[in-house]
Amino acid sequence: MYIGKDVPHDSALGHVTGRSLYVDDMPRLAHELIVDFLWSPHAHATILSLDVEPARAIEGVAGVYTYRDLRHNRLGPIDQDEPLLVEDTVMFRGQPIVVIAAESREAIRAAKAAIRIEYGVLRPILTIEDAIAANSYLGESRFIRRGDVDAAFASADHVIEGIFENGGQDHFYLESQAALATPGELGALTVLSSTQHPTEVQEVIAHLLGLDMSQVVVQTKRMGGGFGGKEAQATHPAVMVALVAQKLGRPARIVYDKDSDMHVTGKRHPFRNRYRAGFTRAGELVALRVELYSDGGAYADLSPAVMARAMTHAENAYFIPNVDIRGTVCRTNMPPNTAFRGFGGPQGVATIENVLEEIAQFLGKDAYDIRRANCYGDEPRNTTPYCQVVENNTLPRLFTELADRCDYRARMKAVRAFNAESKTQLKGLALTAVKFGISFNTKFLNQASALVNIYLDGSVQVSTGATEMGQGVNTKIRQLVADTLGVQLERVQVMVTSTEKSNNASATAASSAADLNGSAAVDACSRLRARLDEVLERHGGNPSWEELVMLAYHDRVSLGERGFYATPRIDWTWLSSANTGGYGHPFLYFTMGTACSEVLIDRFTGTMKVLRSDVLMDIGRPINPGVDRGQLVGGFIQGMGWVTTEELRYTESGELLSHSPTTYKIPNVHDVPEVFNVDWIEHENPVNVAGSKAVGEPPLLMAISVWCAAKHALSFVANGTPARLRLPATNEELLMRITEYTKRGAAVAG
Ligand code: MTE
Ligand code: HPA
Ligand code: MOS
Repeated sequence: MYIGKDVPHDSALGHVTGRSLYVDDMPRLAHELIVDFLWSPHAHATILSLDVEPARAIEGVAGVYTYRDLRHNRLGPIDQDEPLLVEDTVMFRGQPIVVIAAESREAIRAAKAAIRIEYGVLRPILTIEDAIAANSYLGESRFIRRGDVDAAFASADHVIEGIFENGGQDHFYLESQAALATPGELGALTVLSSTQHPTEVQEVIAHLLGLDMSQVVVQTKRMGGGFGGKEAQATHPAVMVALVAQKLGRPARIVYDKDSDMHVTGKRHPFRNRYRAGFTRAGELVALRVELYSDGGAYADLSPAVMARAMTHAENAYFIPNVDIRGTVCRTNMPPNTAFRGFGGPQGVATIENVLEEIAQFLGKDAYDIRRANCYGDEPRNTTPYCQVVENNTLPRLFTELADRCDYRARMKAVRAFNAESKTQLKGLALTAVKFGISFNTKFLNQASALVNIYLDGSVQVSTGATEMGQGVNTKIRQLVADTLGVQLERVQVMVTSTEKSNNASATAASSAADLNGSAAVDACSRLRARLDEVLERHGGNPSWEELVMLAYHDRVSLGERGFYATPRIDWTWLSSANTGGYGHPFLYFTMGTACSEVLIDRFTGTMKVLRSDVLMDIGRPINPGVDRGQLVGGFIQGMGWVTTEELRYTESGELLSHSPTTYKIPNVHDVPEVFNVDWIEHENPVNVAGSKAVGEPPLLMAISVWCAAKHALSFVANGTPARLRLPATNEELLMRITEYTKRGAAVAG
């Protein structure tokens, strides 16, 4: 049996030897062209005139294309509101205007310089506040409501309120956006794409170029990281190379350089949220009103779904009887913001964790006790604001067990003593929780298919719609196939992901790829195994796997099967009436966890170091513990980047200043907590394949404990009022808050 074993990642050897192939590693094809695009340097402008003729005349330039060369010019994963190429108005800085195909980089550069564009620069909307002031939104506000918040506020012992801002985040995948298109016969195209969503790439290419989907094959071998950034935005470069291949009948490749990638692609949504929380003297939440505002950028992209996830995670691990959540996506002149590991969940969870930290500081109580007291429990304290019952709830256990394991009480005492003593440094400690809903929050996306072929020699190929981006989905599928068929792992190959074999697949996203595609593969393998068992019964004896396959073949028994899986039970309704809003059972189950982090801050520079983090999760029974450990560690560190150092800075005209690793600080090896314990509890998940749970996104949210620890540290200088802190808690942000509170303290004392 291979399930539950640390089978090495299927790319492990390839990655360390450099033999894994990415789109840009594929050998250059005969007659291949380089593709690039000219993008707007302005965030908002009308195009007064556009002259591409001088570029066409340059030697080595093979093609220059504008929107007029496309059959259709609208795309988007939810609303098709985004033009691939600008028509008359530029809506964000980085928006593509002209596609260029050439024999060399020099010719591309010369062509870009030769294109003449006159812009009529317009005033851009660059922040959530500006968008609200200008009434600029993408769609209507949505609601999730329960109980009577106003009555609960009126009768609450205490009410606190404020605004909580959290910043965006660049995906910083190591492989930039990339695609390679090859023309086939009679208009057919094959496109290799670094995408989480081959089917969407196929569909959009077909639509924009006027082809049938059946004429377009999209293949994804692997990505050098996706993190959500290639769920919707890998489509644009793929359509550009497909356009060139169609027009010129030559292979065409695009690979963004890092700086351009950071300039032109959307990121994690920044949010600016108003909150008002009512609670008892003991710190029990009785009412929560949250108005979530996200910066959706210039077009819808996945913003409505990201907002829906933020809304269904705004209560996180806590039972709150009266809730009023409103979600509004702002339309700005920023690149369309998009999926990013957690998909709005982190922004919702950080908001309520901030509230709980403030309640504790307001009451002068230990935040752990406040969180533990509000945590989801038994009936009636087990129903979410959107009516889903929290089943198999391990949160109370995770709280208690982690507090024990990491010696929370003693360390909290030590932190208090340290802060009373030290004149130069501050420590903070926080133990926070996460409950993350598993399933796409769009019902129809929760389906997958798999194709399993057994060959004459007993070797097996499996193909699914899942794409490998480092998370190990291929390895897990391989283990599931080997065990279900009863064949050696070495005999199972996971094939390149191709729309030719897995039609109409959903994106590899929502942490559900192993759940959905693994279940589909198991479905196919179970049927194959049943047929082989019949053969075995007929022939008797004790044949080897290879002999059994041969017997089946000679008996003319089919050795290929297609599996399918559709997630049971899930349902969701948005009521148009603002009284109740969204409700249902959007998630098959929840992945849960607790994390405790301790930070040390220099009072004079704001420099913060994470001294220790302990993470304890309920990830079911892992299919591959080693791979899952990698997800827990990697996700946590990526989350640490979001809550501490990764700050996106723009000029007043919307130009991204932090567009390379010199100015945009992702965590490095020195930032990893000095003590870092990562573990999970034994707890089988009864509703998912092999008792496992999805693990891709949830660990990122565990890093909110680091941010809460920073906020806790600030409470020691905030003179009895809840300390305010933006997210990310950069060194500058911490220094500003410390300075502000220290001055205020001095003024009060004076
Ligand atoms: N892990 C690695 N190494 N690279 C990635 O790009 N993406 C994350 C997560 N883990 C990612 C990753 C995101 S955003 C998601 S949704 C899941 O992997 C998707 O894969 P899964 O559904 O197989 O977990
Ligand atoms: N996660 C990722 N992608 C999605 C989702 C989700 O919940 N819903 C629709 N697309
Ligand atoms: Mo992940 S943000 O669902 O690609």
